[in-house]
Parts: sequence; structure tokens; C-alpha cells
Amino acid sequence: DWNSENVIETQVARIREQVGSARVISALSGGVDSAVSTALVHRAVGDQLTAVFVDHGLLRKGEREQVERDYVESTGVRLITVDAAGTFLRHLEGVTDPEQKRKIIGREFIRAFEKVQRDLVAEAAASGGEPVKFLVQGTLYPDVVESGGGTGTANIKSHHNVGGLPEDLDFELVEPLRTLFKDEVRAVGRELGVPEAIVSRQPFPGPGLGIRIVGEVTRERLEILREADAIARAELTAAGLDGEIWQCPVVLLADVRSVGVQGDGRTYGHPIVLRPVSSEDAMTADWTRVPFEVLARISNRITNEVREVNRVVLDVTSKPPGTIEWE
Ligand code: XMP
Repeated sequence: DWNSENVIETQVARIREQVGSARVISALSGGVDSAVSTALVHRAVGDQLTAVFVDHGLLRKGEREQVERDYVESTGVRLITVDAAGTFLRHLEGVTDPEQKRKIIGREFIRAFEKVQRDLVAEAAASGGEPVKFLVQGTLYPDVVESGGGTGTANIKSHHNVGGLPEDLDFELVEPLRTLFKDEVRAVGRELGVPEAIVSRQPFPGPGLGIRIVGEVTRERLEILREADAIARAELTAAGLDGEIWQCPVVLLADVRSVGVQGDGRTYGHPIVLRPVSSEDAMTADWTRVPFEVLARISNRITNEVREVNRVVLDVTSKPPGTIEWE
């Protein structure tokens, strides 16, 4: 019967057989699937694998550190981080349309990743070492079966999809999670020592905080949202609600201002929206009945600790008709 040790053993043997002595590249997104598939391939072929992490500047607080420090420490994976925040922000300047944002972020992600790929391929060729021939993908069983589903799945794919690679690079895919469901992937990840913060992470969209700022994405706005999001996440976790909540987007209405009062002064700040949802598969969702005391704590902390935010509102819309994300 199923256990994660068997899965690891079987997959390690398969990966070794597929890859031989060639080199392998993997894109880490900070999410569960890419983290576990990468760790599994690393277990199989060690330093033949290079993982690439593109920091697009749209990550949540602490996520880069979780990958760069915690993940690397616990798995031993060799990692290249690409600091692309400046480039992404430049391309997002003046853009407010959600689909436009998605397109730009997806395109820049592929560009950044391809650049590293090319460098690695060229480096291997120049040093006369083993060629870079394989690309890891965290495809799960449900992706294989339904291939598509929500916008999320489609987009995750376009980010890491081999279709986005330049034609002169000929990569073969390594997909060690193809037979697994999400909970099985988590079990395998724990067994491989992937940090719990990554293994138990809620779904987070590829375009990151870029589609949780309604309005133009700027460095300042990202900073505001990052702080508010970190507070909401910490309080929901502290209240023991992680199991009940599928995900909780925290959204900054950057183009809306409302009047408030703080100390003896009038404020004119932005609202933050909390969007906690319960769901099985993100296709439909209901808003989670988070206890009032927890909502009160989140609201107090955000309005006290995050400058520019003077109001916290709760989204009580199911999906449909609302989507989970606001953009
Ligand atoms: P919606 O907002 O369509 O979201 O109800 C359904 C699920 O998909 C995630 N999502 C995305 N994931 N790229 C992604 O990788 C995207 O562009 C994207 N848009 C939405 C969302 O977080 C939810 O889990």
C-alpha cells in the first residue's frame, strides 16, 4: 500500500534511469509542487541538478528567504536566484488591466528563466561537461487527467511550460509527481525534508501580489500589501484556521481612498480586503466564516501597523459569482 518512502524509492530509480549522467534544470516557484519535484530529482541525481528561482518582486513576505535559506539548507539543492524585481516593475509601470498584468508577468518570467537556461547550457558546453538535457516539472496527477481546469492551472503551466522554451534548446521533461495527488505530494515533501512552511503552503497565483493590487503595481504598494498579508496570514495560522481555509487572498485597493481618523488626525488611506475562502478545488468556493475575534485582531493590527491602510473589509462573496482572486 501507499507510502511516501516507496514512492521516493521508485521515483529515484526512474529519474536516475531517465537522466543518466546529463544535467538537469528546475524552476522553483516557492510553491509545493516545484519544491517537492525538485527535491525528489535532487535526491536522485544530486548536483547534476541546478534549481532556478526567479524573484519577480511580487512575492509575499519571507518567501524568498524560505526558498534561498530554509529550502537550500534542508535539501542541499544547488540554487541560482535571479533578482528580476526591477525588470518586472519596469514592465508593469502604468499597467492596470489584470490580463495585461498576467501577460507581462508570464512573459518576463519566461525571459528570465530562459536566460539562466541558456547560460547553463553554454557553460556546460564550454567546460566540456555533461550537457544540460532535462527540465523538471511539478505536474500532478489531476493536471495530467483534466489538463487545464481553472485559470490557475493553465497559468502555472504557461509559466513553466516547455512550450515557452526557445527552439534551439532541446529539453526533455522530468515529471516525478505525475502519479500523485496534492496530499501525497505533501507527504513526499515532508519525507524529503522540504520545510513545513513550503509543504503546507496554500495555493498562491504565479503572478503573485501583482494581481492582488487593484491598480498599478508599484514598489511602495507592494510593501504595503506585503505587510498586511503577513499579518493576516500570521493571525489566521495562530487561530488554527489553516486547515479550514483553502486560501486567503489579501487585496490592496490601491486606487480607492477613504477618510479615517487616527490619534488626533484625519487620515485618507487605502482599504485592504480579506478574502478567506473554503474550497475543494478552487473551481467553486464559499467565503470562510472566520470567527469575529480573529477578524477583529487582523483588522486592528493591520490598521495600526501598516501605514497607508485605514480600513479593513471582508469579502463575503461565494464563487461563483465572485472569483477567488480580485483580478
Ligand atoms: P480564481 O480567481 O480564478 O482562482 O477563482 C482560482 C485559483 O487559481 C489561482 N489563480 C492563479 N494561479 N496564475 C496562477 O498560477 C494565475 O494567473 C492565477 N489566477 C488565479 C487562484 O489563486 C486560485 O487558487
